[in-house]
Amino acid sequence: MATQISANIRPADDPGALRDAVAALAAGKLVGMPTETVYGLAADATNGEAVARIYAAKGRPSFNPLIAHVADLAAAERLVHFDPVSRRLAEAFWPGPLTLVLPKRADAGVSDLATAGLDTLAVRMPSHPTAHALLKAFGRPVAAPSANRSGHVSATTAAHVADDLGSAVAIVLDAGPSHVGVESTIVAATPTGLVLLRAGGLPREKIEAVAGQRLDVVDLADPEAPTAPGQLASHYAPGATVRLDVEAVLPGEALLAFGPSLPRGASEAAVTINLSPRGDLIEAAARLFSALRELDGKAATIAVAPIPTTGLGEAITDRLRRAAAPRP
Ligand code: TXA
Ligand code: MG
Repeated sequence: MATQISANIRPADDPGALRDAVAALAAGKLVGMPTETVYGLAADATNGEAVARIYAAKGRPSFNPLIAHVADLAAAERLVHFDPVSRRLAEAFWPGPLTLVLPKRADAGVSDLATAGLDTLAVRMPSHPTAHALLKAFGRPVAAPSANRSGHVSATTAAHVADDLGSAVAIVLDAGPSHVGVESTIVAATPTGLVLLRAGGLPREKIEAVAGQRLDVVDLADPEAPTAPGQLASHYAPGATVRLDVEAVLPGEALLAFGPSLPRGASEAAVTINLSPRGDLIEAAARLFSALRELDGKAATIAVAPIPTTGLGEAITDRLRRAAAPRP
């Protein structure tokens, strides 16, 4: 059966389509971006609400840090700090299917939601001419996970993207099937050396040859994996104790509020941040990690008002539950 052609699929070699895609990104909308590995679900990485729409469209029940895509090395250097070995890898393999996880610059300007609150940032320079043209014309970093709904396989054609995400994407640039077909290889630079976080389109042997060192392999899904604290943590954890579904704030607590009505005792809070006074989950997601960081350290306990668990609320409350869980 023929796939139904969706109106938002546009030929990648149409200059008007490229212009419209740039305008969509600038307006905080989502674009299906072909890359050499798989199609990405692209949004302005500096716009928290645009990034929140990525998670909403994918239907992910949790927040995962995203890769910032850039047009050239100079753009990457504005986002992260390169050590000499990582720079050698970038020079050897970019543009191409390699993602580097590096310390984020303080002035990177990337939304905290895109990094899920981490101090590191994954960066990649795709070699696909359409991705390159889009990134160059847009001029800002673009956050883009694979353009599939959560739990589905990665999209390697424009039709996959449209089938999976439908009207959540403003435009899908159709450049035919992705050549590599699997995601980029992800390498993190840590103080003790390079670590392979995900096998992908660039073979590890090639990376090891240029780096002049073996890659440690860390399976992030393995809770027993020997990760150095903080270096590879895939989740930001606040230092303060987090109390959920609070109906009465205790004096001196930091209050993380949501919506127009505040819990009892809110006026006793040491400090209050409302994730979204109008009760909008997209706005709340966009502010979540910066709010946690800001409240952390201002009080021993962060009291969190009830937050709906529908739509993006599922990922927000998942994140808060993890923050509230006892830590070793
Ligand atoms: O080929 C690709 O990499 C595709 C295309 C669209 O560029 N993108 C992609 O993104 O596969 P995504 O979101 O599906 O996978 C990104 C992976 C996730 O497993 C995430 O946990 C990891 O990168 N990641 C991102 N930032 C990280 C960070 N700061 N530290 C550790 N892992 C990170
Ligand atoms: Mg993916």
